[in-house]
Amino acid sequence: MQNIKLTIDKAFGFVSKESVTGYKSTASAANKALHEGTGKGNDFLGWLNLPTSIDEAHLADVENTAKILRENCEVVVVIGIGGSYLGAKAVIDALSNSFDWLQSDRKAPVIVYAGQNIGEDYLYELQELLKNKKFGIISISKSGTTTEPALAFRLLKTQLEQQQGKEAAKQLIVAVTDKARGALRTLAVQEGYKTYVIEDNIGGRYSVLSPVGLLPIAVAGFDIRQLVQGAVSMEKLCGTDTPFEDNPAAQYAAVRNELYKSGKKIEILVNYHPKLHFVSEWWKQLYGESEGKDNLGIFPAAVDFTTDLHSMGQWIQEGERTIFETVISVQESNHKVLVPSDTANLDGLNFLAGKRVDEVNKMAELGTLLAHIDGGVPNLKIELPKLNEFYLGQLLYFFEKACGISGYILGVNPFDQPGVEAYKKNMFALLEKPGFEEATKAIKARL
Ligand code: PA5
Repeated sequence: MQNIKLTIDKAFGFVSKESVTGYKSTASAANKALHEGTGKGNDFLGWLNLPTSIDEAHLADVENTAKILRENCEVVVVIGIGGSYLGAKAVIDALSNSFDWLQSDRKAPVIVYAGQNIGEDYLYELQELLKNKKFGIISISKSGTTTEPALAFRLLKTQLEQQQGKEAAKQLIVAVTDKARGALRTLAVQEGYKTYVIEDNIGGRYSVLSPVGLLPIAVAGFDIRQLVQGAVSMEKLCGTDTPFEDNPAAQYAAVRNELYKSGKKIEILVNYHPKLHFVSEWWKQLYGESEGKDNLGIFPAAVDFTTDLHSMGQWIQEGERTIFETVISVQESNHKVLVPSDTANLDGLNFLAGKRVDEVNKMAELGTLLAHIDGGVPNLKIELPKLNEFYLGQLLYFFEKACGISGYILGVNPFDQPGVEAYKKNMFALLEKPGFEEATKAIKARL
């Protein structure tokens, strides 16, 4: 197996190589602080050595639970929000057939998601879809008290019990939550659900390689051992023994901080494979929640190319010059499609006849890169040899490690998210939740 590869030289027309190399000691110190547990948020470093600490018994147990759901369900609903669903969805989407739900020869249940919004129509339509279907639930919430997933779980648990009977339903529900606290843990113990623990020292957005991600990914039929192996190899490569010049996480953290300092306040994560859309959503949460605090932080945005070249392309080419882009480039497609020749050639595309569609995509990628550099957009590139479990595992861990280093370089705590509480307080006050009486009075006076 190769490694995913980071290339940063197309940023050097905008910031100097020397200025990025100048981060050598800061980035190495940040990496060391992570490993020695001496930096901010050091009670949330459980993700750091997670890949190498996953043992055979744990993987076998997750695979076994996945097998039970796979054998007994047509549909599995993954309930969770933020870090409790984005990682699983990112990997499952990246590896699934694009028309997955229409495949007649499916070997795994269809995976759908709930608890990631409070859309009444969404939940109604989901309930309708699940009517008379054999479905199971993986309910994921570290705190066990988050409103969105708790609400979805209440609805779907009731439906499952009505359709299957209470006892049978218990066998089709798995809870992934805190080891002791929270309503989901209490419920799981009371009902006797199969459970997995999210360790105290693993924050939601860093939890994809825990059962939060591994269980749904295994249910969807993907090889979690390869995913973990990829992450293990990246854990080793991004360790403190690797010099700054060879450490992709340290390099990425350094160059994005230098670009930020030079006025590039927005980072756009770009893909040329629509299957990677949710990898970008996962990445947006990871970097947004980790760095966006203390009035600091690069704004993480994302686009799917070439689709969004026809919508956001204008802004990227000629809008305010405060952006840089990081392209996830997949070297080799998993399938081959050749452009056919056409005698009439009315569309004028015969110059492409015999070429692979991927070659057209690659030339779009290269052409865009050069155009954007000409337009003042620095470019970073992360190459994946292929879209498979191993390289996705590498990519996920690479982004996590770089995020920790980058946050420390920036001077923030990359492992908390105090700002997420503000909306919840207002929502509870508006909904007149018991205990919020004073806040209710105060907020109603503002309306
Ligand atoms: O990264 C985070 O901590 C958040 O995105 C959480 O994952 C999200 O808010 C869901 O929280 P919980 O798992 O407690 O329901």
